[in-house]
Amino acid sequence: MAQERCAVVGLGYVGIPLSALLASKGYDVVGIDVLRERADAVNAGKLPLKGDEPGLGEMLARVVKKGKLRATTSFSACKDRSAIFVCVDTPIDADKRPDNSKLEGALTWIGRNMREGAMVVVESTLAPETMSSVVAKTLERESGMKLGKDFKLAHCPERVMPGRLLFNITHYDRVIGGIDRQTIKRATAIYSKLTRGKLHPTDLITAEIVKTAENAYRDVQIAFANEVALICEKLGADAFEVRRLVNTCPFRDMHLPGAGVGGHCLPKDPWLLTQSGKAANPKLMPTARAVNDSMPFHVLDLAANALRRTGRTVEDSVVAVMGASFLQDSGDPRNSPSIPVIESLRGAKGLRVHDPFLEEIAGTDTVKDWKKALEGADLAVFMVSHKAYARISPQTIKKIMRTPVIVDGRNIFSSEKMKKAGIFYIGVGKGFSE
Ligand SMILES: NC(=O)c1ccc[n+]([C@@H]2O[C@H](COP(=O)([O-])OP(=O)(O)OC[C@H]3O[C@@H](n4cnc5c(N)ncnc54)[C@H](O)[C@@H]3O)[C@@H](O)[C@H]2O)c1
Repeated sequence: MAQERCAVVGLGYVGIPLSALLASKGYDVVGIDVLRERADAVNAGKLPLKGDEPGLGEMLARVVKKGKLRATTSFSACKDRSAIFVCVDTPIDADKRPDNSKLEGALTWIGRNMREGAMVVVESTLAPETMSSVVAKTLERESGMKLGKDFKLAHCPERVMPGRLLFNITHYDRVIGGIDRQTIKRATAIYSKLTRGKLHPTDLITAEIVKTAENAYRDVQIAFANEVALICEKLGADAFEVRRLVNTCPFRDMHLPGAGVGGHCLPKDPWLLTQSGKAANPKLMPTARAVNDSMPFHVLDLAANALRRTGRTVEDSVVAVMGASFLQDSGDPRNSPSIPVIESLRGAKGLRVHDPFLEEIAGTDTVKDWKKALEGADLAVFMVSHKAYARISPQTIKKIMRTPVIVDGRNIFSSEKMKKAGIFYIGVGKGFSE
């Protein structure tokens, strides 16, 4: 078969690295997004994503300059494309049910514009059975074509992570679900050029379940670590030492506890899985979600307790929230655990939010210089383990804060060093040092 001509629909954290990588492997690629600024940024060779993404900006600039990648807001660009990748966001609604409106919007326009013989590959994460109940049906209805005979369908869920987009997409194994062997072979021919990881062929429903289960599994593991951390706090033990020792036992992989779970994926993928599987009455995954969602509020409790020990309240304190993105050294604010913390601390006498990668979060402008955020503050809540924070010394904290009270949501600092420097220090999963 001749070289596929590719379209990538949705130019975000998934679609951008995919388009750039496909183009770098010699494919002719057009990116399509409803947001004009996304398409304009790509056409200017500029990465429309915040945060540190090693190698990706350079790759994007190179392939755009070479003429291998261009972007548009018009779905008519699908007309001469043989392989169309769908990378739009697939959120949940307020009732935790899949919100497929963006997916259906994209598929409607793809269906109206795609040509016979096209292969549509969905990379977005889906509630199991969406490929058959939404994707196939929308494409058949809008194109007037028959699945299998006139066009092909595959589901190759993405495994990238902000901060590691290019690394993951070029190194990780991929699961390729297809409607038949021929489609899997065709998709495999493309993905084998993109990743040095193994490719695992399967059917559509299995691929859908694998993706949502792998993220739900991680969410449950983090919830377990968080629950152990809460127990350790009550018993006066250090959860990180407990974790280290637990993991000396073979076949144990206790995760890190922390101030909460954010991002576009982990907070919603367990719901995609449990919604589709609700006939099985799943209990563990919703409980894990509740545990992880409660962690930012636990951090707030720790903060209020620590302040009380110094004779202060939130209302008469200047508070610094350190870190606003959901992940270390990323500019992705989606579902960040910092958001409920910032919102709950609005009643403080002063509120500063520091983040090296974000200008604004939850309607609050961020401070770029961590010293400015900490200077004269009475409480600093570390929500994200941005690398820059590891370089802040207890002595500097003691010197520049008015009342040096630290709540560490990410195990950034050593309890002992903080205690030695005379700092009120409390952390998720740690005892209190004074
Ligand atoms: N972000 C991650 O790390 C990650 C990792 C693995 C899987 N995923 C999954 O990949 C999918 C995309 O996630 P993302 O983080 O790239 O989202 P994103 O929000 O960064 O990007 C999605 C893009 O799709 C565009 N879009 C929305 N509706 C559209 C439409 N109808 N037509 C054209 N473009 C449209 C948006 O404007 C946006 O630019 C989701 O299903 C997500 O769960 C994300």
